[in-house]
Amino acid sequence: MIYTLTLNPSIDYLVQMDHFIPGITNRTIDEMVDIGGKGINVSCILAQLGLDTTALGFTAGFTGEEIERQLQVKGIRTDMIRLKQGMSRINIKLRDSVESEINVRGPWIDSEDMERLMSKIMTLSDGDTLVMAGSVPGTAAEDTYEKILKALKGKKLRIVVDTANQQLLNCLSYHPFLIKPNRQELSELFHTDVNSEQITQQCARKLIEYGAENVLVSLGSDGAVLFAADGKIYRSGVLKEPVLNAVGAGDSMVAGFIAGFEGTGDYAAALRLGTACGNATAFSRGLADYAKITDVLDRLPQCQLIGEI
Ligand SMILES: Nc1ncnc2c1ncn2[C@@H]1O[C@H](COP(=O)(O)OP(=O)(O)OP(=O)(O)O)[C@@H](O)[C@H]1O
Ligand SMILES: [Mg+2]
Repeated sequence: MIYTLTLNPSIDYLVQMDHFIPGITNRTIDEMVDIGGKGINVSCILAQLGLDTTALGFTAGFTGEEIERQLQVKGIRTDMIRLKQGMSRINIKLRDSVESEINVRGPWIDSEDMERLMSKIMTLSDGDTLVMAGSVPGTAAEDTYEKILKALKGKKLRIVVDTANQQLLNCLSYHPFLIKPNRQELSELFHTDVNSEQITQQCARKLIEYGAENVLVSLGSDGAVLFAADGKIYRSGVLKEPVLNAVGAGDSMVAGFIAGFEGTGDYAAALRLGTACGNATAFSRGLADYAKITDVLDRLPQCQLIGEI
């Protein structure tokens, strides 16, 4: 079973305006509600690809109930811990000619809640996949991911960690199967501008040295480079189409990579499906659906082997 963990899931309220003016009453021209959170995004794309997942995490209040309901409508199993107080957050995405976001804090997660999550996670068994995506919220202990990895140490799980900065570095000694830094995250990690293939390779090699098994560096519209556990470096192709929404493209790529690897055990094939899912989301209004993913996959060039680690 593939488990995704979303510590602070949300309801995203997308409001479209012609022109937002601060300080007055503005009116929308369109609005949309969807559920959000990086682990949830990964589950949604995996569901489109026909893979079963269980969404883990914390929910609270009426918004939490709605998040679980919508996950189930999408065919995703849920095994959320219900917090006794507070409510799952509603994030605002405000679109006019640009997009602004207000991401709210979300409910407090105390040590007792965390213990409940830990006992759930300890029921995962050999062969399962656990995707921990998104930064740990300020409402939970900062070392949450490390604690989980430490507790799971004896099990043969496939662990995916998609977070940034020190939180990511602290996970590497536990040998995650996959990490997926984007260009900006890589630049921040190494305090350098990652603006060439050579610098990308230097940074990725370091992350492997620190313990990551597969390092998938996503480069937005420039595609992605995979530093794979087979010692080879693969480059994915690029498709050009108008971009409708790049949010969640990285999560889609993570999902596609997992699905591709589950299906084939082949790194280049996993990179190709990951790239197709990332592209497909960038070319969709929200997260990509199955039709868009297969449409992109049909046209996407094969990945190139470009070197050895
Ligand atoms: N503008 C774009 N045009 C085409 N494909 C894109 C574009 N943006 C993203 N993608 C696809 O999605 C993949 C992941 O995108 P990106 O590097 O932006 O991830 P990210 O910054 O982690 O995104 P997220 O917002 O989900 O965290 C890219 O490697 C690419 O395949
Ligand atoms: Mg990302």
